[in-house]
Amino acid sequence: ELPDKVTIKEVGPRDGLQNESEEVPFKDKVAWIDLLSEAGYSYIEFSSFVHPKWIPQLKDARSVATSIRRNPETTYAALVPNMKGLEAALETGVDEVSVFMSASETHNKKNINKSIEETYPVLEEVVKMAKQESKTVRGYVSTVFGCPYEGDVPVEQVAEVSEKLLSMGIDELSLGDTIGVANPKQVDDVLPRLQERLSFDRIAMHFHNTRGMALANVLVSLQHGITTFDASLGGLGGCPYAKGASGNLATDDLVHMLHKMGIETGIDEQKLKEAGDYIQKVLKQSLPSHQMQVLNKE
Ligand code: HMG
Ligand code: MG
Repeated sequence: ELPDKVTIKEVGPRDGLQNESEEVPFKDKVAWIDLLSEAGYSYIEFSSFVHPKWIPQLKDARSVATSIRRNPETTYAALVPNMKGLEAALETGVDEVSVFMSASETHNKKNINKSIEETYPVLEEVVKMAKQESKTVRGYVSTVFGCPYEGDVPVEQVAEVSEKLLSMGIDELSLGDTIGVANPKQVDDVLPRLQERLSFDRIAMHFHNTRGMALANVLVSLQHGITTFDASLGGLGGCPYAKGASGNLATDDLVHMLHKMGIETGIDEQKLKEAGDYIQKVLKQSLPSHQMQVLNKE
C-alpha cells in the first residue's frame, strides 16, 4: 500500500551545485535558495562545510548560511565531514548537520581520505558534539547499490555501516545510490534485507538518475514503506569523487509523479518551476528534468 504523504528533502544547493563546473555567483546562490524556501519544503540541504580545495563550489557555505532567508517551517542542513566542519556549521546556526561515509572502502577513501574504520571515530565525535548542541543529525551511506571503483557492494557491508551510524545516535539515515546504478529489481531485493536489520522509520533514499531509473526506484521504495526521499531541483547534481555520478533524482519530476498519484508532498509545483527557471538561467544551461524540459518548450 502506498503512503498518503511523502517528505522530500531538497539537496540541490549542495549535491547539485557541488558537481557543476559553472561557478554560481554567491548572490545568485542565495537568491535561488530563497526561492526554494518559498516552495514549501520542510527540508533544504543548503551547502557543505568541507575542504574548499575538495569542493570549491561550496566554499561560501558560511556566508550562504548567514545570508539566506530562513523559512521557520524549513530545516536548513549542511554536510560536515569532521569536527572542523561541524564547528563552522554550528557557528552559523544550522538546524541540522549530516555526516557521510561510504559502504565501499575505495569510494570512502577517495571521498573523505580515510578508511571506513578510521572514519567511525571521527563521525562518532561529530555526532556526539552535535547532539550536545541539540542539533539533529543525519547520516549518509554512499555506494549502497554499487561503487564506481569496486563494482557490486555486498548488502552485508551496507547493513554494517548503516547499523554503526544509527548506533551513534543519528536521527535519520539516507541510503545513497551515488552513481545511479540501482534498478527496481535490485531495490526490491536489497530493501527487505536491510529492513531485517534497520528500523525503516529512520531511513530515507537518495537516488541519482544517471541511467533514468530513479523514479522507478522510488516507486519500489514506496512499496517497501519508505516515505522520505532526497531530490535535487531540475536533476542537478552528482558526486565529484564518484566518476560517472550525474544528476540527482529531479525534485520536480518526483513531485509531479507523487501529486499525480494523489500523494501529498507540501511542495508548490509552480514555485518549483520558478526556482528551476532561475537556476538554469544562472547556469546558462537547460536542466535535465522532464518538468524543466516541458517548461522550456512552452
Ligand atoms: P584531509 O586532507 O584528509 O583532512 O581531508 P585533514 O584532516 O588531514 O586536514 C587537512 C587540511 O584540511 C587541514 O588544513 C585542515 O584544517 C583542513 P591545513 O592545516 O593543511 O591548512 N580541513 C578542513 N578545511 C575546511 N573544512 C573542513 C576541513 N577539514 C579539514 N571540514 C576531508 C579530509 C574530509 C576534509 C576532505 O576529504 C573533504 O573535504 N572531503 C569532502 C568530499 C565531499 O564533500 N564529497 C562530496 C559530498 S559526499 C556525496 O556527494 C555523496 C552523497 O550525496 C550521498 C550519495 O550520493 O551517495 C552525500
Ligand atoms: Mg548524492
